[in-house]
Amino acid sequence: MELYIDTANIDEIRNAADLGVLDGVTTNPSLIAREGVDFHSRMAEICDIVSGPVSAEVVSVEHDGMISEADELLKIASNIVIKLPCTVDGLKACKTLSDRGVKVNMTLCFQPLQAMMVAKAGAFLVSPFLGRIDDIGGDGMELIQQIRTIYDNYGYTTKILSASIRHPLHLVQCALVGSDVATVPYKVISQMMKHPLTDSGLAAFLADWNK
Ligand code: E4P
Repeated sequence: MELYIDTANIDEIRNAADLGVLDGVTTNPSLIAREGVDFHSRMAEICDIVSGPVSAEVVSVEHDGMISEADELLKIASNIVIKLPCTVDGLKACKTLSDRGVKVNMTLCFQPLQAMMVAKAGAFLVSPFLGRIDDIGGDGMELIQQIRTIYDNYGYTTKILSASIRHPLHLVQCALVGSDVATVPYKVISQMMKHPLTDSGLAAFLADWNK
């Protein structure tokens, strides 16, 4: 499974990239606002650190505005992926950009038919938000499984990018159902190589060795 980091924080991106297994980055308007920085400059900084896909999200809600914003964002770096919402205008913009060979990440996906439609429109990535479904008492993993089945049934090549990951168990479940990618907050990436028995086992080995 590919691993992206879900942040616009440069220190977090550098630390995750240092692990040597980071495949890409996702950002969103809330994450950029949290940093209090210029959007385009920050995207350029991120693309200097990570050579894989870096998603930059538009804030226009209608087709033409989305395309104009996308055209500006695409000038930043060759690994920019345009992030659009799973709305009717987002779908049309996805089709326009994908037909031009632009990589598109369709975000805010909460039901399987949105995923099917954006695959038909040629999206490079679809982002189902599993944590936000869990937050309201639903089953986010069920959505990931449904999209996997639909994509496999018809050979859609859009990659499933599981998003809104809250904890390591989400990642285990995503890997088990065949999510292509997961985008993960730094806090959860930091937990991925941790187990208390690894730490206590290593301490015991070193203590025995030193005796
Ligand atoms: C994905 O691209 C989104 O930025 C992100 O995963 C949203 O997660 P949240 O529900 O924790 O805000």
